Amino acid sequence: MIPTETVYGLGARMRDPLAVASIFRAKGRPANHPLIVHLHDLSQLGEIAASWPEYALELAANFWPGPLTLVLPKRSSVPDEVTGGLDTVAVRIPNHPLTLALLRELGEPVVAPSANLFTEVSPTRIEHLSPKLLDSVAMVLDGGPSEVGIESTVLDCTLEEPVILRPGSVGSQDIQEAIGLAVGTGGLDEKKKSPGHHPRHYAPQVTLHLTDEPLGDRPGLGFALPTTPFQICMPGGVPDFARALYDALHQLDRMGIQEAWIQAPPRTGDWEAVWDRLTRATHRV
Ligand code: TXA
Ligand code: MG
Repeated sequence: MIPTETVYGLGARMRDPLAVASIFRAKGRPANHPLIVHLHDLSQLGEIAASWPEYALELAANFWPGPLTLVLPKRSSVPDEVTGGLDTVAVRIPNHPLTLALLRELGEPVVAPSANLFTEVSPTRIEHLSPKLLDSVAMVLDGGPSEVGIESTVLDCTLEEPVILRPGSVGSQDIQEAIGLAVGTGGLDEKKKSPGHHPRHYAPQVTLHLTDEPLGDRPGLGFALPTTPFQICMPGGVPDFARALYDALHQLDRMGIQEAWIQAPPRTGDWEAVWDRLTRATHRV
């Protein structure tokens, strides 16, 4: 288990087929859900990607190390198991001193999905790690609470203009400002291109409802529970809310809460990544 600034990851050396296979097994993850390759230096990009547009380099210069994943045409040397058979590969340089040191020391690419069981909530602290997953790992690196708190923005960079496949803390506005190009939002085809995207994902055990009603008499966003006066108060701003979100969901589950309400955040563009996670966490199957 490795800490990153977004969420904890379940890491394996990209070129070790047994280790890569054990990631899918441990998470219960379908084999066609591609993994993100983690690097420590831009000079390694050529080992992974066959080509990249100029704007991808500008993005790397602006946001790496950081919570932005670029999807690029893959080199044939990247194992098919890693990309779920796709001809593209997702890559990022994470921004966490421990993991950067590990990657540097190791000197080779590491694949790392979020360290949660399939469809469950990603961990942002080691206390969130599932005992079932802990059974199958060799080592846990405790890097403290994740700074960003939600998974990286995944950006398709195989077209003339980039397209967001998974919203994250790096928003389309940030990307547009960095490269001076419009960002596509993607249609149905783009959804198909990112097979790891499920309507119900990041979902806690607790049944969660979104509500526009203010909860209780406390200001701000929060989780309210039906039977007790207990409430988790969430911070108001986007970065603070995102940082606290998964911890709150893990807390509700740990307490064995059956049902809870969360006050809907504003419906403005800066809340897009938070909305994406809340929509999935409250999706009924
Ligand atoms: O913040 C993060 O990205 C964390 C940390 C540990 O780095 N990792 C993470 O990995 O969230 P995972 O495996 O839980 O999510 C990877 C996402 C999925 O939505 C997957 O579909 C997408 O990235 N993805 C990976 N490779 C892709 C590819 N070649 N084309 C399109 N989407 C891809
Ligand atoms: Mg994940």
